[in-house]
Amino acid sequence: MYKIVEAGILAGNIWRMVVEAPRVAKRCLPGQFVIVKQEEHSERIPLTICDYDREKGTITIVFQPVGASTWKFARMKEGDAFMDFTGPLGVPSDLCTDPIEEVRRKKILFVAGGVGTAPVYPQAKWLHEHGIECDVIIGAKTKDLVILENEMREVANTYVTTDDGSYGRSGMVTKCIEDLVQEGHVYDHCVAIGPMIMMKFCALTTKKLGIPTVVSMNPIMVDGTGMCGACRLLVGGEVKFACVDGPEFDGHLVDFDAAMKRASLYKTQEGMAFLEAQEGDTHHGGCGQCGGE
Ligand code: NAD
Ligand code: FES
Repeated sequence: MYKIVEAGILAGNIWRMVVEAPRVAKRCLPGQFVIVKQEEHSERIPLTICDYDREKGTITIVFQPVGASTWKFARMKEGDAFMDFTGPLGVPSDLCTDPIEEVRRKKILFVAGGVGTAPVYPQAKWLHEHGIECDVIIGAKTKDLVILENEMREVANTYVTTDDGSYGRSGMVTKCIEDLVQEGHVYDHCVAIGPMIMMKFCALTTKKLGIPTVVSMNPIMVDGTGMCGACRLLVGGEVKFACVDGPEFDGHLVDFDAAMKRASLYKTQEGMAFLEAQEGDTHHGGCGQCGGE
């Protein structure tokens, strides 16, 4: 069992939990995710890692209750425990595995939208711990929904923007990217993490500005094992699975429109059956170890 040592609301309907999971904490890297199950027969929920403490053996997760399982998670308290907490899964962020001298030469911009601020934080923190400065834009609908601002300010040059202008700069993250570039900032690498629609428009903006961009396709994952077929996407015309090949991909190559259309079809049994029939053998990804069997 995996004990919850801290539980609370970060903002609005966004929850934060610190969970004892020493084996995951020992091996995880920014960009990876865990699969969390409350009880034996509960649904498996993939969640990106927001923070980890290797000494204390804990992992921090951040989530928004959007379905029955995450709604039940939100009712769990300090001292309760998850039945399963599997990970670390997925491919770590390139920034944490590429040769450090190569990363050091890059001027990096992170774009963190809403709950997507949680998976950006460990990447910015990792760079800070390795002496690399980066810029972060945190975007939220309103002031009340800005999360992890203080934590982010400790590790990166942070710009906050709200859609309604109630705090920080005014407007969506895409406007802030363009404004920063106009103000003289030069970037040669961008990582955009947030809702699909935000990542689509960030990728369009950075393509126009000539900034290579990575996005995290975590939002389309369902079981996180390569077996359900939910996270199938096209990247540069090739079939990929977010949970096995990602979750991070080249944002300029991801077909966001197809991924969003597919995600809405995947919500009904009929839509799922249609996708399975249409996609045949390429509907499932396999676990990544078995060649799709
Ligand atoms: P939100 O809807 O409040 O949006 C956050 C910010 O994204 C906005 O403030 C705005 O600046 C920007 N944005 C939104 N639409 C945009 C558009 N059309 N053009 C340009 N910028 C735009 O975000 P939320 O409610 O916190 O997001 C929840 C979503 O985030 C869920 O769908 C969840 O799946 C997703 N999420 C993604 C990841 C990931 O790894 N990609 C991680 C956690 C959550
Ligand atoms: Fe099911 Fe990736 S989440 S195949």
